[in-house]
Order: sequence, then structure tokens, then C-alpha cells
Amino acid sequence: MGSISALVGVLLLSAMAVAAAVLDPQNVSSPGALVWSTAKEEKDLLQKSDDSNHDSTSSTPAAAVDDLDGGFSSLDSMLQWAIGHSDPAKLKETAEGVQRLSPSELQQRQQEIKELMEKLKMPSDAQLMQTALDDLNNSSLSLEDRQRALQELLILVEPIDNANDLCKLGGLRVIVQELDHPDSEIRTTTAWVLGKASQNNPFVQNQVLDLGVLAKLMKMVKSSSIEEAIKALYAVSALIRNNFAGQTLFYAEAGEMMLQDILSNSSIDIRLRRKAVFLIGDLVERQLENIDHAEMPFFSNCFFLKSVVDLTTSSDLDLQEKALLAIKNLLQLKTTEALVFKDFCHLDNALERMRERLEDLMYEEFNRDYVIDIEGLRKEVEQIYHRKLEKVRAVPA
Ligand SMILES: *[C@@H]1O[C@H](CO)[C@@H](O)[C@H](O)[C@H]1NC(C)=O
Ligand SMILES: *[C@@H]1O[C@H](CO)[C@@H](O)[C@H](O)[C@H]1NC(C)=O
Ligand SMILES: *[C@@H]1O[C@H](CO)[C@@H](O)[C@H](O)[C@H]1NC(C)=O
Ligand SMILES: *[C@@H]1O[C@H](CO)[C@@H](O)[C@H](O)[C@H]1NC(C)=O
Repeated sequence: MGSISALVGVLLLSAMAVAAAVLDPQNVSSPGALVWSTAKEEKDLLQKSDDSNHDSTSSTPAAAVDDLDGGFSSLDSMLQWAIGHSDPAKLKETAEGVQRLSPSELQQRQQEIKELMEKLKMPSDAQLMQTALDDLNNSSLSLEDRQRALQELLILVEPIDNANDLCKLGGLRVIVQELDHPDSEIRTTTAWVLGKASQNNPFVQNQVLDLGVLAKLMKMVKSSSIEEAIKALYAVSALIRNNFAGQTLFYAEAGEMMLQDILSNSSIDIRLRRKAVFLIGDLVERQLENIDHAEMPFFSNCFFLKSVVDLTTSSDLDLQEKALLAIKNLLQLKTTEALVFKDFCHLDNALERMRERLEDLMYEEFNRDYVIDIEGLRKEVEQIYHRKLEKVRAVPA
């Protein structure tokens, strides 16, 4: 979408001077050369906007077009907008060139501008989504085109307004059907789209949950295709993050068992294990923020706690860090017991071994800052753990 907006912006910059003069053909006085876009230059513009579609500053028309969602309702509104947003001095200078033209020449220019702009008028994001949805809803669409429609939606649903529009277009119902597609790659991209649309968006989260697909996505997490499993867990996380109703459904479907299975099996792909432990840390954090909600009994289960603590032995720093964050939160729950961490999970040993390994890594240049950060987090966990232990010891038996 960025390149489309940038293209419209570049086009407008070159065309609006001409357009202004055409709209106001009264002043036919000053000399000057006419700057006009030929078809060849138009191609150059396309090229240019492709090269530079990321460095437009906030004051360029390209950025302003973004605000307008990439679409104008009519050619007139596009011209009005262009004139309103232009530098008057520059516009006048170029427009003066045009004003030397005879009325018939002007009329011809006007026609050419109109054709050029019609040709380049871009559909809005909502229209693009509708097209992709119509494709998806067509059972005779080829696998390749189906995948492409989903990939387009993946990009389109990223802005929160678009995700909301997708719901209003009835798009979720169409997308959700694709979770039943026999092709694993189609299901994978579908889960990805649903996750992206739901992320940090309670409105979409609730609509997707209402369609009853959480259980299906949770089954997909057990898929033999690791990519499908990863995207499914991504979607599950996006649906239940900060969403109490979603979390209730998740636990009703034994989501905690699903997570524990992933944590306790070291032959499962590391990316899936990272996502699982990150989700646990997040779920516990929500629990800490909502003290009026009863704590999930599962979080104080000793086998579960041990499988989280055991992750600290991983050689993957990212996984270690996410495990530490989860442990930090779990230690702060009222229902977890310090002595379980000590006697059953052997947290002392785990933290000490981790300290030694991190110390060794600190002598290496590679990742040094990251290692220092993790050691800082490890120390913090150690302090929280010791405070929790002291509280137990302070209580007379
Ligand atoms: C057209 O010319 C008149 C007289 O020179 C001037 O007052 C007016 O502002 C001009 N209009 C535009 C759009 O340049
Ligand atoms: C999808 O197609 C069916 C007919 O096959 C139609 O009834 C339904 O309205 C379509 N859904 C959307 C969102 O276009
Ligand atoms: C469905 O897709 C097929 C194959 O691409 C196409 O020929 C047909 O026109 C489409 N039908 C509709 C209703 O869009
Ligand atoms: C662990 O994961 C592997 C790979 O996904 C799987 O084949 C195996 O059955 C799992 N083991 C257990 C005990 O679940």
C-alpha cells in the first residue's frame, strides 16, 4: 500500500500545477515553459515512487494520502485536495507556463489529465479487501490465487481501522472458512491473518471468538506442520491477550495442558516453545493485574512450574529470557508456593547454573549486551524468589 500512496503523491506533485491552471484558465498572461507528463515520464514516476516509497516525509502528499486511506471518492476531490495541499508559489510558477496555451490545447490537456488520473486512481483499502474476500468466497478459485488473496489480506488488515472494516464487510466469516481448507499452507496463512487482525483489537478479538474458532486454532497448534502450529499459536495468543472472555474459553479447552505439552517436550521446534512460554508469562501478568479474578489453579501446579523452570537450561538465550519473565511473574502469584520452587523445581540450582553460563558468555563479544540484560533479569528473579522464601520462613510452623 505504501508504494501506491507514494505513487499517487508523486503523480499529484507533477500534475497539480497543470491541473490548477486548467481549473482556472482565466489568467493567460505570463510566459514560461510547460511541464507536462508524457507516458514515458509517467513510467519514470512509477519507478521513482517504487524506489523512494519509504522516505517520504510527513508533509508530502504521499503521507497525507495515507491519512485518507489511499482513496479519493472522485477525481474532483483528488484535484481539490492536491491544490489545497500545494506550495502556492511553486504552483503558480508552473501554472503560468500552462496559461500560454490556447483554449483548445488546454482542453486537450484537461482530457489527458483526466485520463491519466483515472488510470492511476487507486482503489481504497476497503475495496481491495472486498476483492480479496470475493475471491476467497469463490470455491472455484485456484490454490495459488487463494493463497495470494490471503497474503493480500495479511497486509491489508494490519492497520486497526482496516481490521475493523474487515469485520463490517463480513470478511471474518469468509476467512474463518479457510481454516477447514485441506491445504496446510492455506490454513497457516488463514491463522496468520486472523491473528494479525485480532492483535491488540478487542473488537475483532470478540468477533473472531464469537465465530467459535478458538478450539479449532488450538487443535492446529498440534499440527504436524510446524509452520501451521506456529501461526496457529500466534493466532490463539492474539485472540486471548488482554481478553478475559477469550482466556476463559482457552482454559475451558484445556489450553494450559496444550502449553505444558509444548514446554515439556524438548524435541518440539524452539520457535513454538518460545511462543508458548511467552504466552504463559503474559497470561500470568494479566492475572497479577486483575487481583479480583481468582488465580488459575493450574499456575500453582508443581509439574507445570517445573516445566517452566527447566526451560532455563536451554542453550537458546531468547527462550531463557522468556522463561525468566514467566518465572518472575509466577513467583508473584499468591497461590504459588516458595517451597515448591525450591524443593520440586530446584530453582536455586537452575538460577545458579544459569549465572555460571551467562558469566562464561560475557567473555565473548557476540551478544554481550543481551547477555548482560538477561543476567540482570536473572538477578531480579533471584531477589523475588528469596523474598518469597523469607516470607515462608518468617511464619512459625
Ligand atoms: C489571475 O489574474 C488576476 C489579475 O492579474 C489576479 O488578480 C488573480 O489573483 C489571478 N488568479 C490566479 C489564480 O492566479
Ligand atoms: C459468499 O458466497 C455465498 C454464496 O456462495 C454468498 O451467499 C455469501 O453472501 C458470500 N459471502 C460474502 C461475504 O460475500
Ligand atoms: C470464481 O473463480 C473462477 C476462477 O478464477 C472465475 O472464472 C469465476 O468467474 C469466479 N466467480 C465469481 C462469482 O467471481
Ligand atoms: C514430542 O514432540 C515430538 C515432535 O513434535 C513428537 O513426535 C513426540 O510425540 C512428542 N513427545 C511427547 C511425549 O509428547
